Amino acid sequence: MSSGSLIELLDAFEAAAMAAIESAGDAGALEAARIEFLGARQGRLRDLQGLLGQATKEEKPLVGRRFNEVKTRVGAALEARQRVLARPARKVGGLDVTLPGTRSPQGRRHPLTQTILEFKEIMGRFGFSVADGPEVEDEWHNFEALNIPADHPARDPLENFYLAAAQVAARDGSSSPPRLLRSQTSTVQIRVMESSPPPIRIISVGRVYRPDTIDATHSCMFHQMEGLLIAEGTTMAQLKTVLRLFARAYLGQDVSIRFRPSFFPFTEPSVEVDMSWGSRWLEIGGAGMVDPNVLRAVGYDPDLVTGFAFGLGIERFCMRRYSIPDIRYFTGNDLRFLSQF
Ligand code: FA5
Repeated sequence: MSSGSLIELLDAFEAAAMAAIESAGDAGALEAARIEFLGARQGRLRDLQGLLGQATKEEKPLVGRRFNEVKTRVGAALEARQRVLARPARKVGGLDVTLPGTRSPQGRRHPLTQTILEFKEIMGRFGFSVADGPEVEDEWHNFEALNIPADHPARDPLENFYLAAAQVAARDGSSSPPRLLRSQTSTVQIRVMESSPPPIRIISVGRVYRPDTIDATHSCMFHQMEGLLIAEGTTMAQLKTVLRLFARAYLGQDVSIRFRPSFFPFTEPSVEVDMSWGSRWLEIGGAGMVDPNVLRAVGYDPDLVTGFAFGLGIERFCMRRYSIPDIRYFTGNDLRFLSQF
């Protein structure tokens, strides 16, 4: 027999022996495999040994080396398997708890959820409690009570997400009132004032929806934090102080906040609020003194109480804190992004 076919026989022997050892499920099966492959009297390795004599003088060193190698490897695999099978299995409810476990990845809170929790904690320290309102709103809370009249451009159906049922009702002239996904958290100001007398000191955090063109700082679904304080003698200086303290508490002492005169139907005077981000400014919210018309709409007396309100874009604060360059990361569901928080 040539050395080539002897080597092939040794290869086949090793593969078969290894497979039998690996699949032996208990000591009895393993002993049977040992006798079949390595048995001193009738084992298959012994048969192969008998064939070694057929190799030529030149071939002998090569075949002999391979024979010894196979013998050592199969012997070692047998001993290793013996050790595994001898280990006492600790069964708990039919489960072998000594087997290696499967590591499951640990989840964590979404960065926006973390930000929202921190916002609530900071505003809680300033004495603001948390109020909630629905995401599907009627026109009274999203517009009317906020002093946004029927012909105001902000009410254009193209600027809002009206529910299809509302569009059908409007087309058919049926009486079911239009509903829309709220475009701002200011709706919650109205709901809180309608249900409680002054003084009021609340924040409300949640999702808002607008058919805006999506870019690095604009999404069609984003989060706002609304703040509302109603009491006797409230001033614009208090509003600016609260916003400055809040921004510094979340972003650190190096953030600058600037106020620009602006217009909102529900506040007078109104401002837009920007934060510094490196060498540029980014708008983070709108604010102002609650318009007397709004106070009247909810049954308050504007001669007795005044108040301030603000609405901040939550994504933008989080983006600055963590240097996130694009708002779309928040909804991309990319684990490489999410696992950094
Ligand atoms: C308002 O929504 C007012 N309700 C704010 C307000 C409340 C004024 C109370 C006065 C009193 P504005 O549309 O400017 O205002 O939005 C407020 C902030 O939301 C913006 O400054 C920005 O930070 C964020 N924002 C607005 N549109 C988007 C968008 N498409 N994507 C992400 N953030 C946005």
